[in-house]
Amino acid sequence: MNSPAAIIQFPALRDIPLAHACAPVHQRDYLLAGELRTWDGPVQDVLSPVCLRRPDGPPRQVALGHYPLLGEAEALAALEAAARAYDHGRGAWPTMPVAGRIEAVEEFAFRMAEKRAEVVRLLMWEIGKTLPDSEKEFDRTLQYVRDTIDALKELDRVSSRFTLAEGILGQIRRAPLGVALCMGPYNYPLNETFTTLIPALIMGNTVVFKPARFGVLLLRPLLEAFRDAFPAGVVNTVYGDGRTVIGPLMASGGVDCLAFIGTAKVADLLKKQHPAPHRLRCVLGLDAKNPAIVLPDADLDLALSECALGALSFNGQRCTAIKMVFVHESVYAPFLQGLAARVDGLSRGMPWEEGVRITPLPETGKAEYLRGLVEDAVVRGAKVANAGGARVEGTFFSPAVVAPVDARMRLWREEQFGPVVPVAPFATVDEPLRWVAESSYGQQVSLFGRDAAAIGALLDPLVNQVSRVNLNSQCQRGPDTFPFTGRKDSAEGTLSVSDALRVFSIRALVAAKGTGANKALVTEILRQRRSKWLSTDFIF
Ligand code: G3H
Repeated sequence: MNSPAAIIQFPALRDIPLAHACAPVHQRDYLLAGELRTWDGPVQDVLSPVCLRRPDGPPRQVALGHYPLLGEAEALAALEAAARAYDHGRGAWPTMPVAGRIEAVEEFAFRMAEKRAEVVRLLMWEIGKTLPDSEKEFDRTLQYVRDTIDALKELDRVSSRFTLAEGILGQIRRAPLGVALCMGPYNYPLNETFTTLIPALIMGNTVVFKPARFGVLLLRPLLEAFRDAFPAGVVNTVYGDGRTVIGPLMASGGVDCLAFIGTAKVADLLKKQHPAPHRLRCVLGLDAKNPAIVLPDADLDLALSECALGALSFNGQRCTAIKMVFVHESVYAPFLQGLAARVDGLSRGMPWEEGVRITPLPETGKAEYLRGLVEDAVVRGAKVANAGGARVEGTFFSPAVVAPVDARMRLWREEQFGPVVPVAPFATVDEPLRWVAESSYGQQVSLFGRDAAAIGALLDPLVNQVSRVNLNSQCQRGPDTFPFTGRKDSAEGTLSVSDALRVFSIRALVAAKGTGANKALVTEILRQRRSKWLSTDFIF
């Protein structure tokens, strides 16, 4: 764990290819009530995880620009703008026919597609995501928007008919909730923010959204599209310290729906600040420590590649990452050796470099934190199993396989959210099953094995502890049409393309006794198109 001469080669300025160079973004504007307002108060400087090599000192993080550090007044103004646009459900947006809202989102998606290159470049520079993964995040998000539009069309088609029961006729549709506060995480600052923001919007809610701690500037190129595609006040942005800008919003009681992807600790704090928590609909994606369980008959090659991929994609900074690996003692030694070799073979470098898998980390102090976790395990008897593991240079931490990890070590329970892979041998499956049952998290598990009887017997207890069991594959959120959720401290609510439409809305219905007069009244409303909500229009 001592730093050797060079564990990563940071570039000099002249080494950065022109195609991937990033001009600083000095953002002073924010979107409020349909206008880009200029902020002349304090700003937050943004540093890239990418450092530059210097002849006369240690590598230094690249300055990427800044964004506004808004105050309480600006945050409350954003909430007020969203509330005004909602206007107790009477605003242009919540009363707009579904087809109109779809058109606005389509317009936004079209404008968004034009900004691909800018957003992808900022994803690389702000959070250190590799070029292919940054492109994937952008494309997946755009696809999510398109799939959301299709899902809403389908939902609307189903809801455009009338129901007749016990002599009562009714039309049941989904209606918006009010003002939604959307906050995404830094590891998927575009994708996970939009997987709540877009469904919230398309269902007729108005929105205040705050970007994550890192990955703020990459949303700047989209502000004009938000301003132009939606009516004034439907989308508003806030930037700054969470305590300053989010606390007052929650305490005001004006937030009807909280969509937050982050830690359970912060989610609890936010929920408690709301004066009437029963009024607050929450959609939360929280902490996780997904284990892999490698059974004696597992295809080791497959288990090794899925575990390495699952644990170390985007440097392990995924809520779905495999963060603990249990291996049956009969295959423990070859597995550990194989994993160490694979991890050492992963290419490290800058996000734009071809074939690079491990990159510098955006969080200040993260490399030292990870080193602390590894040192704690080593002091208690574990070893770093790979030759180049757990070395720190500036913002870079070289991925480490740590074994054998046991209950005395922080790595046993703590969510590392970084490139450290703890491995523990087990004699009977009761050991990992107990670990899962005692864990505060309950998102996913990966099971590796070939014996139908053994796997089958494990599935039954596991599906009652977590929300997804992956067979011979890494843990992951996708495909986005699958439900994404978790138990215990891992989530509240379920997201998928179609589930998200449900969580950001509530069923409302218009009902009437099926008398001749009521039937005539409803027919007249429909025929003369007197209501946008009560309608039998079919969206093609
Ligand atoms: O950080 C959590 C993400 O939702 C994980 O998504 O499995 O597609 O990387 P992913």
